[in-house]
Amino acid sequence: MSRVYNFSAGPSMLPEAVLVTAREEMLEWRDSGMSVMEMSHRGKAFASIAEQLEADLRELMGIPSNYKVLFLQGGATAQFSFIPQNLLNGKTKACYIKTGAWSEKAVSDAQNFCEVVLTASSEAEHYTSIPDVASWVIDADAAYLHFTSNETIHGVEFQTIPDSQGLDLVSDMSSNILSRPIDVSQFGLIYAGSQKNMGPSGVTVVIVRDDLIGHAPKSTPSVFNYAEQAKNQSMLNTPATYNWYLLGLVLSWLKQQGGIAAIEQHNKNKAAKLYQAIDSSALYRNPVVPDYRSRMNIPFVLANSELDKAFLTAAEANGLMELKGHRSVGGCAPVFIMLCQRRVWMR
Ligand SMILES: Cc1ncc(COP(=O)(O)O)c(C=O)c1O
Repeated sequence: MSRVYNFSAGPSMLPEAVLVTAREEMLEWRDSGMSVMEMSHRGKAFASIAEQLEADLRELMGIPSNYKVLFLQGGATAQFSFIPQNLLNGKTKACYIKTGAWSEKAVSDAQNFCEVVLTASSEAEHYTSIPDVASWVIDADAAYLHFTSNETIHGVEFQTIPDSQGLDLVSDMSSNILSRPIDVSQFGLIYAGSQKNMGPSGVTVVIVRDDLIGHAPKSTPSVFNYAEQAKNQSMLNTPATYNWYLLGLVLSWLKQQGGIAAIEQHNKNKAAKLYQAIDSSALYRNPVVPDYRSRMNIPFVLANSELDKAFLTAAEANGLMELKGHRSVGGCAPVFIMLCQRRVWMR
């Protein structure tokens, strides 16, 4: 067996220790006589896995008790629509900050439900920065302010929590959740697909302040309704049981590493090394304004795009896989590197 360095943005690498535990427990989970995959989600054994999962996430992120933690399906993409359905609460507008491909999609889906007030957009700068706060337009009548804390494709990350001027803050943290400590109490809602920074695909974490739920219109399908899901511990229908279990293994591994503060230090070191290598080389270029550069995923292009193919071939020959990036970042085939916080062994 030879495991490669897999830089895929997600699904992405899992800690090897997690995979080893999953292998050991594959046929039988702790004297239960069965694999987690075969367990009823209503049974005692799975209930203990679910309880531990939520407790570990609460502990790692310091989630206050007045927040619900949901484990849903449909990916972060489903949340683009669930959020306006659940949070508009009779209002007709929501504010959005557009800083890259993912917030663009969030805006587009929200427009099916409400008027989107564009608080700020860096589209004209090809999503290489975050517009100056002084230029932001925040509508006090809006239900919430949405932003994408880390733009996975464009490599742009908010380094501080934006000032929402009193609106409830909603954040897509799919690609930087658990990578740095955050004060959850400053948010109305945080969501993240699991497959980048947490576990396998198939689980979406939603952390929502409890006063914000219970106001969805009657027409909202029950599985899309946060209040219904909260009432049923995210088991209104059959959850992605094995994915919950794997996510739980990653969280307990993160705790063993020293929690988020320790992981953040690794992330800072890794990112600094890579940016330093990029900036000091004539071969590579990162287009993002330094103040907004992501610690988690670092897109870079080769100064001479004719070398792209040779670079990718040589990278693969050396066990560095999935480096090919997204066209929208610039260049003809920009290389994109996802530095995920779980890869702490890659110093
Ligand atoms: C920041 C961000 N938001 C949303 C998504 C969409 O997530 P999903 O595929 O889980 O719907 C992704 C990546 O896939 C992402 O990186």
